[in-house]
Amino acid sequence: MQLTVLSLFPDLIEQVIDASITGRARAAGLFRLKTIQIRDFAVNRYGKVDDACYGGGTGMLMMAEPVYQAWLAARAETPDQPVRTIFLSPRGQLFSQEKAQELAASTRPLVFLCGHYEGIDQRVLDEIVDEELSIGDYVLTGGELAACVVIDALLRLVPGVLPDEDAYTRESHMDGLLEYPQYTRPAVWHDRHVPDVLLSGHQAKIERWQASQAALETLRRRPDLARKRPLSEAEWADLLTIRREEQKQGEKP
Ligand SMILES: C[S@@+](CC[C@H](N)C(=O)[O-])C[C@H]1O[C@@H](n2cnc3c(N)ncnc32)[C@H](O)[C@@H]1O
Repeated sequence: MQLTVLSLFPDLIEQVIDASITGRARAAGLFRLKTIQIRDFAVNRYGKVDDACYGGGTGMLMMAEPVYQAWLAARAETPDQPVRTIFLSPRGQLFSQEKAQELAASTRPLVFLCGHYEGIDQRVLDEIVDEELSIGDYVLTGGELAACVVIDALLRLVPGVLPDEDAYTRESHMDGLLEYPQYTRPAVWHDRHVPDVLLSGHQAKIERWQASQAALETLRRRPDLARKRPLSEAEWADLLTIRREEQKQGEKP
């Protein structure tokens, strides 16, 4: 997988991606990341890459030509393959786990374009961008953090980046539900007990409990998600049985 990021602050990207799991995966050659400094393509020798907006308003806008030249350099990295160019933007489609899965499976090299200041001249966006992604309904100072979020989420779905597939297939959002609560040693902490079923060693029961907790957490925390991914009759039946058992054992209603 080839990822290229166009940015005025490429060090930010390098530092984030080189940390921890993604850093190890990069060192192991599981993906290639290239960052391109847009300022290297400035329109003058003083490094000018932005200018005032036509029509007035405060703030500066990134100019079309440096962005375009940086993109041509990104495209030259993989001359035989057309790139898929993603502009990080608060006006974009909301990023999701589904989109992360789609990007992780992409056969085209991915180019991420990060805006800064007021954003980027619309003409170059119209010319090079395939899609715009937003990481949420708020405004950041630049696209770098957003690019890191998208790259991190997609890289953990690339085979080999996490120790085994189970590590991500059984997580929140992978099948439309949130993850069930998890516990580690000790079995009792501050008088709080790990649910008995998890200590039972009975794998089928454990999995039934986990599935019903995932359904319950989703209904409680994110009814909007639960509406998109309605529970099956069997899931409702399991959930109700387990809740009845828990209530019999005096756990919180
Ligand atoms: C200050 S913002 C520009 C906001 C723009 N003037 C607007 O009102 O839509 C600068 C850059 O940060 C990035 N950015 C800001 N918020 C973002 C978000 N929610 N998701 C993705 N990128 C974002 C974009 O690359 C954007 O060009």
